[in-house]
Amino acid sequence: MNLDFTSVLPSLPFILQGLGVTLQIVCLAGILGFLLGIILSLCKISKIKLLNWLANAYTSVFRGTPLILQLMIIYFGSPQVLGFQIEGVTAAIIGFALNSAAYISEIIRAGIQAIDKGQQEAAMALGVPYRPTMVNIILPQAMKNILPALMNEFITLTKESALVTTIGVMDVMRRAYQVGANQYQFMEPLLLAGIIYYILVTILTFLGKLVEGRLRSND
Ligand code: ARG
Repeated sequence: MNLDFTSVLPSLPFILQGLGVTLQIVCLAGILGFLLGIILSLCKISKIKLLNWLANAYTSVFRGTPLILQLMIIYFGSPQVLGFQIEGVTAAIIGFALNSAAYISEIIRAGIQAIDKGQQEAAMALGVPYRPTMVNIILPQAMKNILPALMNEFITLTKESALVTTIGVMDVMRRAYQVGANQYQFMEPLLLAGIIYYILVTILTFLGKLVEGRLRSND
């Protein structure tokens, strides 16, 4: 084996600079995807058929086509549709948020439907309107159950964020690739990128467990 980490070590700060971009994309897309996911899940369980249909069609499209294609359509297709080029990071945040929302809406829908119907009926019998019933009674319980599945989704998001390399965003992955290309030696920088992603996911897993523990001890 011919590995020499001393030659890539000076490039480590350059690769680590991509961490900010990666985290920015993951955090913003995660939050936006979560909010959109809640709205979509409520549409899916609504009594209004049109809303059911729209939300299901949304999920079907965003889950049924490759994420990398969605990213490229948003990034490379924006000049033809909007008349200007969306910035790479912005395109990435939009793309990941829209894609993640499709998955998150299914997670939340399942979580809501797992809550006993009697709770909603009891709230209705007591005259509690729909919104407070959802926001104060159903959703908080659903969130506790779906936390592991949500954590999975955020882990997926973190790793899939490496796809932004294809639209020119200087994230950890692209920087590692560039260092490799400059030195004609790819193995070491790519392994470094792997370690960085692994640490990110480990931290995320730890935070998820922490929140889960907190919620459980609240019971
Ligand atoms: N590579 C998959 C795709 O192209 C990843 C989809 C994202 N998955 C997710 N759970 N957010 O569709």
